[in-house]
Amino acid sequence: MGKIAVLGSVNMDIVITTGRMPKVGETIIGDQIDYFVGGKGANQAVAAARFGGKTTFLGKIGQDTFGEKVYQHLSEEQLDVRSVAQEKNIFTGIASIFKLPQDNCITVISGANELVDREYVDQVAHQIIESDVLLVQIEIPVETLQYALQLAKENGVTTLLNPAPYHDIVGELLPNVDILTPNETEFAALIGKELIPEAEMEETILAWQQTHTTRLIVTRGSQGVSFVESDKLVTVPSSKVPVVDTTGAGDTFNGILAAALSEGMSFKEAVILANRGAGLSVQKLGAQTGMPTRAAVIASEH
Ligand code: RIB
Repeated sequence: MGKIAVLGSVNMDIVITTGRMPKVGETIIGDQIDYFVGGKGANQAVAAARFGGKTTFLGKIGQDTFGEKVYQHLSEEQLDVRSVAQEKNIFTGIASIFKLPQDNCITVISGANELVDREYVDQVAHQIIESDVLLVQIEIPVETLQYALQLAKENGVTTLLNPAPYHDIVGELLPNVDILTPNETEFAALIGKELIPEAEMEETILAWQQTHTTRLIVTRGSQGVSFVESDKLVTVPSSKVPVVDTTGAGDTFNGILAAALSEGMSFKEAVILANRGAGLSVQKLGAQTGMPTRAAVIASEH
């Protein structure tokens, strides 16, 4: 079993299910409200742990009821949360999520996630160095990411960056990133475009990979997942499943990918399993609710 350290955010997701977004200045009546533990960091850690990776989550909560709830929830997963720090006088991160019939809209208020700093990385450095894979996203300060990725790289730990939400720092982080997993929008931003036409996506991925050593995997929603192997583009198609909620699908992909790679699985096999896991995760409401166990991912093969 491989060891994974996930450094990142944890949020309380407040999910409002509604038929449509209100217009500016308008009030509408929604259908349902749910509270789920989320945050890209915590979600990815849960996905890795459910897949069977020996996973440590590194992040911060605030001194409030949500902080206690998310800590309790994470403790009930097969996760090492002993280094999660509680900060005084600040609230736990919150994500306000509008779940619409066609997709979702998310606004994150960072709270304690903003206080995940270099000093914290120093305190948990041994957890990072002892891991096979360090997995990070961009819901904590970018200076912290820069510092943690460098520490991991210097110590021979495989580094995986999920560049979400996108930030212009990504290009600068690349020398310390082994694997980069943008979605199509984030990949377009990385190459300085607003959008890459679908017909140009494959050649754009190939061209980027030819000039970079960081291994690129572009997650493409219903199109599947694309990467380059032996100078050829490989696209692993998405499974055709009933979609209830896509929140956390990318997190499931990243968590399983990290766990699979940490145990020495081949790159292609790890991508295939991570993609299947993401397909299972979208079948329930909430980022973590539908995240599968390893057994469920393997069983979904047939
Ligand atoms: O990727 C989904 C996550 O993004 C949600 O759980 C929310 O907390 C935001 O961080």
